Amino acid sequence: VTSTSAASGTVGPPPGMRVRLSSNESPFGPSPAVVEAATAAVRAGHRYPDDQSVALRRAIAAHERRTPDEVAVGTGSAGLLMDAIAEVAPGGSVLTFERSFIVYRLAAANAVATYVEAPTGPPPVPGGEARGYARDVEALLERVDDTTRVVVIDNPGNPTGTHLDGDALATLVDRLDERILVIVDEAYHQFATGQRGYRTVDELGLAHPRVVVVRTFSKAYALAGLRIGYLLGPAALVRTFDDRRVRFNVTAPAQAAALASLADTDHLAATVAGTLTGRERMADGLRALGVPFTDGLGNFLTVELGTDAGPVIEAFAACGVGVRELTPYRMAEQLRVSVGTPEEVEVFLEAAARVLDTVPARG
Ligand SMILES: Cc1ncc(COP(=O)(O)O)c(C=O)c1O
Repeated sequence: VTSTSAASGTVGPPPGMRVRLSSNESPFGPSPAVVEAATAAVRAGHRYPDDQSVALRRAIAAHERRTPDEVAVGTGSAGLLMDAIAEVAPGGSVLTFERSFIVYRLAAANAVATYVEAPTGPPPVPGGEARGYARDVEALLERVDDTTRVVVIDNPGNPTGTHLDGDALATLVDRLDERILVIVDEAYHQFATGQRGYRTVDELGLAHPRVVVVRTFSKAYALAGLRIGYLLGPAALVRTFDDRRVRFNVTAPAQAAALASLADTDHLAATVAGTLTGRERMADGLRALGVPFTDGLGNFLTVELGTDAGPVIEAFAACGVGVRELTPYRMAEQLRVSVGTPEEVEVFLEAAARVLDTVPARG
């Protein structure tokens, strides 16, 4: 077990790791119907996929109560974010909250745009787990200027799980100039529905003419390895982004898997329910250990260590548990742990009891 591979997080847990809780994946896997559909598509793998992903875009449109020309599909939502930001941001700036999903920063750099962050609140205090790293709409609005081309919000956010509630999101979008592209990244929305005032863009019916939503099949649908996500927005904007994309960007097995997963609503419901139960169990377990954490609305928790995370992550790895370090987010004393299966959650909590015993923030 090497600490570097665990700490860099790029390749998941080293060989021998029992539990991988480092990448916010679904621990429950895709549904059998999805595996069957993707396997059938592999058998026809000598054929190019449908470049326009027509069947899938129709199904997503029906699912989202949109029209197919308001839907683009891409190589994960990360691919769509890169493309949308590359289209709009060059020469200007991309504005987001501090400690947002790292791809926004990469996309801004790729677009030769300035990356601007609005500060977020302090870490959580014991008993105030839901309020760690709070996001303040005014702090973001203060940083809008003539160079701002894109405002991008992960809601809930990664790696803190923090969210803007419906009122805050509506206020923010309402006060952004119509020339700005507003991207709301709802990668984790299924795990946030109905909790603590969370509302999706579509539930709010936001009127801004350049607001787009990105969603993914990687999280609640458990297709992270197949790389497929989608973008919803006004048809003219969607066309602009889609015109520039790499042709045949979504493989046939990915299209087939995504289509089948939209149809398997029972599997989705079971995954979401299992994730929420696991999140609660992890939160209860950490509370019992006296370890501060942010109890966000994603499929993960963000743990406060009060000491350098490196050796702690190494100690978890020695117990066979892969967790994510957060130094790229300037969070050197925190780690992120994804919700696993019930068994994996217990393995994590047993390891946490041993590993965090010596950590200063405890108690
Ligand atoms: C907020 C957020 N958006 C998007 C993604 C990327 O998902 P995808 O696998 O669709 O590229 C992630 C993945 O961790 C994420 O945390």
